[in-house]
Amino acid sequence: MTSPLLELGHLEIRGAAGAVVSDVGFTVEAGGIVCVVGESGCGKSLSALAVLDLLPPGLRVTGGALRFDGRDVLAGDARKRLRGREVGMIFQEPATALNPVYTIGFQVGEMLRGLSRTARRDRVAALLHRVGLPPAAAASYPHQLSGGMKQRAMIAMALAGEPRLLLCDEPTTALDPTVGAQILAQLRTLAEDGLGVVLITHDFHAVSRMRGKIVVMYAGMVVEQGPVPAVLGTPAHPYTAALLATLPKKGQRPGSIPGQVPAPGMRPPGCPFFNRCARVLPRCEAEPPPWRDAGERHEYRCHLSDIGGST
Ligand SMILES: Nc1ncnc2c1ncn2[C@@H]1O[C@H](COP(=O)(O)OP(=O)(O)OP(=O)(O)O)[C@@H](O)[C@H]1O
Ligand SMILES: [Mg+2]
Repeated sequence: MTSPLLELGHLEIRGAAGAVVSDVGFTVEAGGIVCVVGESGCGKSLSALAVLDLLPPGLRVTGGALRFDGRDVLAGDARKRLRGREVGMIFQEPATALNPVYTIGFQVGEMLRGLSRTARRDRVAALLHRVGLPPAAAASYPHQLSGGMKQRAMIAMALAGEPRLLLCDEPTTALDPTVGAQILAQLRTLAEDGLGVVLITHDFHAVSRMRGKIVVMYAGMVVEQGPVPAVLGTPAHPYTAALLATLPKKGQRPGSIPGQVPAPGMRPPGCPFFNRCARVLPRCEAEPPPWRDAGERHEYRCHLSDIGGST
C-alpha cells in the first residue's frame, strides 16, 4: 500500500500560554482534497504553517508525528526542505504575498531559479495557463489584476516548484462568491490531476461542493472527520451540528454559536466544547472524550454514542 502524501498524527504546538494546538491528526492522499473547518482561533492556520516549519516566533511543534510521503519530517530541517518543491502554500493574507512593484511574470519566474531566460518564460506562460490566466497577465502588475486573478497568480507561484501538495489557507475569503467558486473549481481540477489539496475555509457551501474529506477543528484539536457528504449530512459531533446550524438560511444573516472558543491555557481536561454544548453530560468537563466510529471513515471525538440525538 502506498503512503498518504501527508500524515499529521496527534500534532501539538505550544507557546508561552500553553498548547495552542493540542491534538491534530489527519491524512491527505495524492489527488485528494481535505477541507479544514472550524471557528476562528481553532488552530487551522498554525497546523498548516507547522507542516512547512513556518510557525511564528514563540510557537513550536512539541509533540506528535508529521510524515510526508511516508518519511518522518519532524526533525532537523526536513520541513523547510518541503517548501515549494514538495508542498506549496497559499497564505491567509493575500495582500502581503504579491509585491506591488514587480510584474506577475517576474514574481512567478522568481520561483524558477536555475532555468535559462527562455525556459523560464515558457514555464511562466505554462503556469499562468494552468491556473486559467491569460498570457498577458505575465506583464501585469498586481494592481492591474482583479482579486480573483491575483489569487490565481498566487496559485501559479505556489505551483512553480511542482509541489505534490498544496496548502490553501482561506483562498476565497477576500473574493466575491462567484469568483471564489471559480478558484475552488480550479483547485478541484488540480486535485483531479493528482495534486493533494488542503483547503482551510469558513465556507461550508464551498465544502459541500468538494468531493473529499472534511476535518472539523475546535480549540486546537480535530473533533470530527470523514467524507464531505457524511459529515455535512449526518454531523456526529455536537460542535459540527452547531456550526452547521449557524449557516444562513435564504435571506437570513449567519448565526453564531453562543459563547467563545476557550483560549489556549484555559481549556478543560475534558472536552473543550463542554461549556457551549447543547448535549453536555456531567463527565464532559473532566474526562477527555473518546474517538467513536460514525460509519465508513467517519469518526468523532465525543462522550455521546448516539449521533444527532435530542438530549
Ligand atoms: N504568534 C502567536 N503566538 C501565540 N499564540 C498564537 C500566535 N498565533 C496564533 N496564536 C494562538 O493560536 C490560536 C490559533 O491560531 P490560528 O491562526 O491557527 O487560528 P485559525 O483557526 O487559523 O483562525 P482563523 O479562522 O481566524 O484564521 C489563536 O487563537 C491564538 O490563541
Ligand atoms: Mg487562520
